[in-house]
Amino acid sequence: MEVYLDNHASTRCAPEVVEAMLPFFDRDYANPSAVSSAAGRRVHDAVEAARESLAEMLGCRPSEVIFTSGATESNNLAIGGVLARLDGGHVCATAIEHSSVRAPVRECRRQGFQVDEIAVDSQGFVAPDALQATLRPDTRMVSIMAANNEIGTIQDLTRLIPVVRQTAAVLHVDATQAIGKIPCSFRDLDIDLLTFSAHKLHGPKGIGVLVVRQGSRRVRLQPQVWGGGHERGFRSGTLNVPGIIGLHRAVQLALDDLPVVQERVRRLRDEFWALLREQIPGLVLNGPPLDGSGRLWNNLHCQFPGVEGQTLSLACPEVAMSSGSACSANQTEPSHVLLAIGLGPDQARSSLRFGLSRYTTCDEIKAAAAAIADAFAQLRNI
Ligand SMILES: Cc1ncc(COP(=O)(O)O)c(C=O)c1O
Repeated sequence: MEVYLDNHASTRCAPEVVEAMLPFFDRDYANPSAVSSAAGRRVHDAVEAARESLAEMLGCRPSEVIFTSGATESNNLAIGGVLARLDGGHVCATAIEHSSVRAPVRECRRQGFQVDEIAVDSQGFVAPDALQATLRPDTRMVSIMAANNEIGTIQDLTRLIPVVRQTAAVLHVDATQAIGKIPCSFRDLDIDLLTFSAHKLHGPKGIGVLVVRQGSRRVRLQPQVWGGGHERGFRSGTLNVPGIIGLHRAVQLALDDLPVVQERVRRLRDEFWALLREQIPGLVLNGPPLDGSGRLWNNLHCQFPGVEGQTLSLACPEVAMSSGSACSANQTEPSHVLLAIGLGPDQARSSLRFGLSRYTTCDEIKAAAAAIADAFAQLRNI
């Protein structure tokens, strides 16, 4: 039995999402910018209806929603776009950001910005004091991820954002693993730039969002892709209409039955952990406790003592899991997230990440735990 437990990397496109997208491939395929024709106007209206409804769900204005090709592009546009309009200063991001934040921040350092990491504790949380200590009078931009893609840590943004707001810095939040998992309102949280991607929440790949606060002198964004001036000039290129429709439907689905799905998946995740612990001596949990509200309810991350995570995952190909960070091309280096929470390189290399979804079943959890325990025992014997 194949079991898919790699839902932080990508998810199954929900049947409801596929159904909503299909007419936009072979019936309503006109270019939404071609509004002079009835066909183009129809597609334009569908996109704008999706944008409006999405904005309501995200707690922002429709005109603040910029569609991109995914969270990597959104993060690059947020960071590169803000800093391109500045001539230096200080930038900081948490030590556990995704590579699509880390790489543009590194690039800023090359361009002369001063860069600092915001330290996290042994569970991946940023303490308000640690944030305060990193900020400087010349801090121009701060990037804090809402939920971590490896160990599932959910930052307490309600405590961190007021600290950032004591400065004039622009605040960017990568909410790629958070949207559809925890309530996230752009306006209530007082965020300047927010990123996410559809394929992490049962939407299609290749479509994402950057929410850009309007009416703030702080947030001035330079486009990173130039062309016909789509998306208020921030992101040129013909819109991915089926993607936009699918992204909207995916967010709608996720929020519609969030409490029910959350409870069911959390219970399955806890059962999976219990089954693994029963069969694997010395198993260690990485990241926040499972019973608190500080961890994504579909996330599990643990150390398999004496065995390399990558070897274990190769020995157990019927279970999809991850031994490196999500979507990282280079998985040979120990994860920077695990090193940042204080694990040694060997502990990091012996770790594996599991991500459950609304489609995960109890039978799958049992089969996956048995297969992993078998592979672990065999590797330990070798
Ligand atoms: C927290 C986070 N940010 C950004 C990304 C990049 O997303 P995309 O695959 O849509 O470019 C990911 C993907 O793993 C992620 O987990």
